[in-house]
Amino acid sequence: DVMERVFSGIQPTGILHLGNYLGAIESWVRLQDEYSSVLYSIVDLHSITAPQDPALLQQSILDMTATLLACGINPEKSILFQQSQVSEHTQLSWILTCMVRLPRLQHLHQWKAKTANQKHDGTMGLLTYPVLQAADILLYKSTHVPVGEDQVQHMELVQDLAQGFNKKYGEFFPVPKSILTPMKKVKSLRDPSAKMSKSDPDKLATVRITDSPEEIVQKFRKAVTDFTSEVTYDPASRGGVSNMVAIHAAVTGLTVEEVIHQSAGLDTARYKLVVADAVIEKFAPIKSEIEKLKMDKDHLEKVLQVGSAKAKALAYPVYQEVKKLVGF
Ligand code: ADP
Ligand code: NA
Repeated sequence: DVMERVFSGIQPTGILHLGNYLGAIESWVRLQDEYSSVLYSIVDLHSITAPQDPALLQQSILDMTATLLACGINPEKSILFQQSQVSEHTQLSWILTCMVRLPRLQHLHQWKAKTANQKHDGTMGLLTYPVLQAADILLYKSTHVPVGEDQVQHMELVQDLAQGFNKKYGEFFPVPKSILTPMKKVKSLRDPSAKMSKSDPDKLATVRITDSPEEIVQKFRKAVTDFTSEVTYDPASRGGVSNMVAIHAAVTGLTVEEVIHQSAGLDTARYKLVVADAVIEKFAPIKSEIEKLKMDKDHLEKVLQVGSAKAKALAYPVYQEVKKLVGF
């Protein structure tokens, strides 16, 4: 009889891209109608695991709020809030940090990937942010967490921390389950072996939700394909074309088979423009709504204030119980 509750978060820094949209936000919108209690957090505390300019960070938080609202996140159906405004996130995070051993964090793929090929060694924040993620989720006794494939390992940590806490202090946290999004991974347009990412230095690799139609066309024109001109779906051997077919299907709501059938007779050069058009059409109303929302800063601030107060009201009693269990 555990109450079902969905929690997920997104960093405010960087503009939402096609991978985030199809891999996360589109299902966030759907989950609002499928669950009675849903929280979505703009996780600004996670953003400072990389250096941020304060003025830009503040702007990004409002921009991400506008973007999520424009995508269909509805504050009447879900609690949309700013993580840093609910101080219990960091407080619970500390308690969980004291329950996890260093090698567990050092062995996480993302830590290894982010520190292996970069100029910096990684801060303590970058190392321990998966523990903060666990606190984000557990603070609301969340039961379901929509995540991308890239977050599965972090969800295992969350589950272990919930179980570890329960074992030490008595049954308290539900062990949250992952909801894997149907669109597993949108690939980079320039390198189909990599995922589309906002941090990709190749600006042509990532289609952002605010790109102009011209930019979207240019990015698809320059998308890497292969020497076969036919449009087929075979992710293992034809990564580039298959990525476009998957994107095409996702933005139109058609199946892969329907997309392939429709595209019979097109060569990949023409097909790129068809997919670009479908993406432009999908993003057009969202893009104009973002622009409209961005003009009303007071409204965006108000949405976050109201949402953060609602989140705080849920977090506060949970953390009071945690404190008692821990002995504070
Ligand atoms: P990025 O890698 O661009 O920085 P984030 O790590 O901020 O993106 O991811 C935010 C959300 O979007 C996560 O739920 C993540 O799983 C999802 N996501 C990010 N990139 C992709 C992608 N290329 N395909 C599908 N989902 C993605
Ligand atoms: Na709802």
